[in-house]
Amino acid sequence: MRVLITGAAGGLGGALAAAFSDRGDDVLRTDLRESSEVLGHDVTSDESWAVVRSHVEETWGGLDVLVNNAGIAGGGRMDVATMDEWQRLVDVNLLGVARGIATFTPLFKRQRSGQVVNIASLAGLVHPAGMASYNATKAGVVALTETVGHELSPWGVTAHVVCPSYFKTGLIDSMAGSDEAFGAVIAHLVQSSPLGPDDIAAAVLEGLDQGLELIVPDDAARAAYDLKRSDRAAYDAQMRRQAAKLTDLPGGAS
Ligand SMILES: NC(=O)c1ccc[n+]([C@@H]2O[C@H](COP(=O)([O-])OP(=O)(O)OC[C@H]3O[C@@H](n4cnc5c(N)ncnc54)[C@H](O)[C@@H]3O)[C@@H](O)[C@H]2O)c1
Repeated sequence: MRVLITGAAGGLGGALAAAFSDRGDDVLRTDLRESSEVLGHDVTSDESWAVVRSHVEETWGGLDVLVNNAGIAGGGRMDVATMDEWQRLVDVNLLGVARGIATFTPLFKRQRSGQVVNIASLAGLVHPAGMASYNATKAGVVALTETVGHELSPWGVTAHVVCPSYFKTGLIDSMAGSDEAFGAVIAHLVQSSPLGPDDIAAAVLEGLDQGLELIVPDDAARAAYDLKRSDRAAYDAQMRRQAAKLTDLPGGAS
């Protein structure tokens, strides 16, 4: 298969590239961080997507799998995070994915085949306090994926969304928000996770092989999502306990 992965200079994108390559697929990695192995690409730019599409068409003549993985960390309490930070998260995490799908939809329709794989987050399914902007972009990716899966089904194109809990990568380096106290909480959760990108990548390929449209690739994410669906009152109570802890953080109004 011919696989394009965004944000693939390292982290989960790099692990996915290795996993697809290991099973014999052809992989094109793109990222803001360009190198001899990674095509320079900014997912927030239409021009940059046009360059990637031309590259794919000239090199392969088609595409089987588009993995929209590029993303940045973010969040922050409502009275601390700025609207510029919201805008940046929406541009990268949500519109970056929408641009990717819009770029390759004509090609997928012509081929009458294709797989769209969007890396969202558990934050797209369950919504802890303090990270409204990140949660909203990832929930948007969940909705976008479901919509596209329905819309492109007449052309034989499928769409899959991946919703992992925290795993250890350099994601937190991209967290440059005003809510520094909350950022430190998230940094700790990412850095202390027992999971790495290889674990998530393996689960993603397994989920795709099973044809899953929603891939919840780790135990912590499955437990959190199951609780929300099976016992809403317990889920709300857990979320409010977590929110109460944030009242001790410096920075927000009391
Ligand atoms: N690490 C976690 O705990 C976690 C949990 C759930 C979901 N995710 C999601 O997984 C995906 C991969 O994140 P990661 O943890 O591997 O982090 P990462 O920072 O290692 O990888 C993200 C990559 O995206 C690239 N990128 C950022 N902005 C870009 C842009 N505008 N255009 C092109 N590339 C851009 C970065 O250069 C980086 O290489 C992200 O969508 C993230 O939101 C991560």
